[in-house]
Amino acid sequence: MCGIVGATSERRVSGILLEGLKRLEYRGYDSAGVAIIDNAKKLQSTRRTGKVQELADAINANPLDGTIGIAHTRWATHGGVTEANAHPHLSESEIAVVHNGIIENHESLREQLQALGYEFKSQTDTEVIAHLIHHESKTHEDLLAAVKAAVRQLEGAYGTVVMDTKDPERLVVARSGSPLVIGLGIGENFVASDQLALLPVTRQFIYLEEGDVADVNRTSVQIFDSNDQRVERNVVESDGNYDAGGKGEYRHFMLKEIHEQPIAVRSTLENRLSDTTVLDDAFGKGASELFKTVEHVQIIACGTSYHAGMVARYWLESLANVSCSIEIASEFRYRKSYVHPNSLLVTISQSGETADTLAALRLSKELGYKGSLTICNVATSSMVRESDLAFMTRAGAEIGVASTKAFTTQLTGLLMLTVALGKYRGMSEQQQSAIVKSLQALPAKMEEAVALAEEIEALAPDFANKEHSLFLGRGNQYPIAMEGALKLKEISYIHAEAYAAGELKHGPLALIDEEMPVIVVAPNNELLEKLKSNVEEVRARGGLMYVFADKNARFKSDDTLNVLNVCHCDEIIAPIVYTVPLQLLSYYVAIIKGTDVDQPRNLAKSVTVE
Ligand code: AGP
Repeated sequence: MCGIVGATSERRVSGILLEGLKRLEYRGYDSAGVAIIDNAKKLQSTRRTGKVQELADAINANPLDGTIGIAHTRWATHGGVTEANAHPHLSESEIAVVHNGIIENHESLREQLQALGYEFKSQTDTEVIAHLIHHESKTHEDLLAAVKAAVRQLEGAYGTVVMDTKDPERLVVARSGSPLVIGLGIGENFVASDQLALLPVTRQFIYLEEGDVADVNRTSVQIFDSNDQRVERNVVESDGNYDAGGKGEYRHFMLKEIHEQPIAVRSTLENRLSDTTVLDDAFGKGASELFKTVEHVQIIACGTSYHAGMVARYWLESLANVSCSIEIASEFRYRKSYVHPNSLLVTISQSGETADTLAALRLSKELGYKGSLTICNVATSSMVRESDLAFMTRAGAEIGVASTKAFTTQLTGLLMLTVALGKYRGMSEQQQSAIVKSLQALPAKMEEAVALAEEIEALAPDFANKEHSLFLGRGNQYPIAMEGALKLKEISYIHAEAYAAGELKHGPLALIDEEMPVIVVAPNNELLEKLKSNVEEVRARGGLMYVFADKNARFKSDDTLNVLNVCHCDEIIAPIVYTVPLQLLSYYVAIIKGTDVDQPRNLAKSVTVE
């Protein structure tokens, strides 16, 4: 989703801004722009639709020369993908603004500002911020005061950075609902929506909190909280592990990240298991006290993270003896829900910034939950900071928009949570140590699954010319089928639906013909025989089947049935292992289709607006 970078320095900043934007590309965007204040104190701006490289080429051809600037990658919400709608937005050639989020009262503000004589050049909600600040600057002593006055009038979500030609060393930033971080340098300071953008220039960060407004100069930073009180926020030293690095030997980040899964899962487990159980400390200080009291688990998440939560529901209810409900965050936050006594709210999020999940977490604090836990991949994220407990998935930076290693490490964490809660709810020591053994075996099983890449690549041509596909699974593999379908949709743009296989005859069977490939996830579990009947139902109607099966499941390939043998593994970890071939299938189909694998059209890595 949209990305922000800003810098105030003694050196030229356009290179820093462009490098920052490149590092935010993975978040998904459709246009980009940079504005600087030049040495003559004039605003200069270049914007382009398309990739950051096109913007960089334009700036190389016509350099932007200045020591203060702001830059943005835009993911269109209000107004189409045009240069006029790209940020930064300017007011009267004096004020420049970049903004993440959505201003909900932009229509009424636009009318007021038009009545005051401001002429709008874009269809965006952001342009009202620029004109509003310009208007306020007429009656306030400086940019900081004008921004404070303007943001008080905004409804909705914003992370915004503003500069003013009248004050050409200063960036004023404001956060409400969209994350912003300040990067501290020596004789220079920076701002961004994600620290990743600033890692080449600093490792010292201040994370702004909700309602903060900050005055960022070359040599000083002042922060004011939502009550307009001057506050000090902690300076956090980044360990640098969150650097995206490169693609290495891989053609795409997604492929690299699929291959990194054995290492990522090993890191998720490291120092968090004893020989016989899961250590509560993995979930943070105070986990044991909270876990002892939990009688219900409510999981909230979106997209792939939601699928991880769906698998966890099977584990928690069957193994930890605790009831569990799961809901998509965007639904949960807008309905009145029943809160079970002693409920633990679990949010699952790769980024920790997904707007709907974060809003649900905030809402839960008013609803009487016993406590909150987030399963997250970003230690500095809002969800980690605002939850009582946090389990870090330690997947490392995930750059591909399609989530892969974040998902399998979330599942690993959720299986650990099953043991951590189960031990207070009658899970036997024997059962705990059996799950621990399966978890210890998991990285090696993931390696075997990744090694299927070539075989799966050979299947991909069968899918590339199809418009639709069906994914089937049963039990805790049903959410894995859903995840497989989501991956195929996201990166190959093939319509894919997932069904619990037993549901087939209640409608979707009508879709089956030779143009509808059917992918079946079939580990060797107690539902295998039932699943085989479902396979026969499809086969009898001329469907083309691709069965990803345990080698002991005794499926045989023939004209209509392609069997891909997946390594044998304990049933409990099978959802994690079987995810890998489905990821690989979507990847290789996308390669044949020639789509933009790491940044698929219309999608953003971290969905920070509603
Ligand atoms: C998955 O491939 C998607 N990129 C998307 O569904 C994602 O999982 C969802 O937007 C939630 O993101 P989060 O885990 O960062 O909260």
